[in-house]
Amino acid sequence: MAHGIQEVNAFTFDMETGNLVQLKDLFDDESSYNLFKSSLKEQIKDVMDFDTQEEPYLTDQEIDEVIENTKNFSITAKTLSIYYEPYEIAPGYMSTQTIEIKLDSIQGLKTEQLDMVNPEVKLGSNALYVYDELKQKELIKQYKNKKIVALTFDDGPHRVLTTELLSVLKEKHVQATFFVLGSRVENNPEIVNQAALAGHSIGSHAYSHHNLLNLPENELIEEIKKTQELIQNATGLKPNLLRPPYGAYNEAVLKHADAAIIMWSIDTEDWKYRNTNVIKQNIIDHVKDGSIILMHDIYQTSIDAVPDVIDSLTDLGYTFVTVDTLLQARQGMGNSRVYFYGAQ
Ligand code: NI
Repeated sequence: MAHGIQEVNAFTFDMETGNLVQLKDLFDDESSYNLFKSSLKEQIKDVMDFDTQEEPYLTDQEIDEVIENTKNFSITAKTLSIYYEPYEIAPGYMSTQTIEIKLDSIQGLKTEQLDMVNPEVKLGSNALYVYDELKQKELIKQYKNKKIVALTFDDGPHRVLTTELLSVLKEKHVQATFFVLGSRVENNPEIVNQAALAGHSIGSHAYSHHNLLNLPENELIEEIKKTQELIQNATGLKPNLLRPPYGAYNEAVLKHADAAIIMWSIDTEDWKYRNTNVIKQNIIDHVKDGSIILMHDIYQTSIDAVPDVIDSLTDLGYTFVTVDTLLQARQGMGNSRVYFYGAQ
């Protein structure tokens, strides 16, 4: 997921009951669970050793509490992966920590429970897929009776303006989606990381803003791949959204996208008008549930319009979500598929 590394949501469900599964539910008995906990504790201490501070990040007792409260884990054919979010077992700058433990090294695992938790264990495919589906069900439920919109910002990151925008979004508690240019990520990776850490989605806008339709296939692939790598290096996450420059796509773009193609349903034309009132009015005149709103975080007037846009849409009863949340809550999302409206 786009918000993965910084905020992993691999909640593990019992497929039959839909209840959350706790770590201890995976074990036959208390003593196997205790044995497992002591080995997990050692591995958490290993992670903590990477932190160069004098004082250990957590005391022994705090580690025990963290283990007891472990909520994010997944199981594949061979491995139990446990995820700890920033600040849980390491300082925030170390981002999410994953501890992987080979299943055959764990004693007393309740095998029938494993089968029930994850029907794909035997197939050996990635268990997270199952959890993504369940997460989508949660989102559908969560936003069923709400009107949702996604604010999207193209062509950044801009050192000054994107930073300013991030403060506005933080103050308003709004999450947005940024379609960043690889060429700009290269110079401002920390801004992109800051946006990802704040829970915004980072999508690709390709590398140089060339119209991809005019490029030979090898250059088109390069535009997409290079940007994907730059985003991944900056945030730890591979983007799952691509907005091709000018919204221009063809078969070749779809083939090499390796992401969902995100268009828009409201074009504010903020680059043309450079007027906060026109931008706001344009949105209010066209907004409806599922709208994907196109703006650019490289113009001062666009940033200036955002607080008013947020307040006006909030007054109209809208909730702001990222593009991937919007799509998952309304119609699902898949690679190489094209999305305009989110919901119709
Ligand atoms: Ni653009």
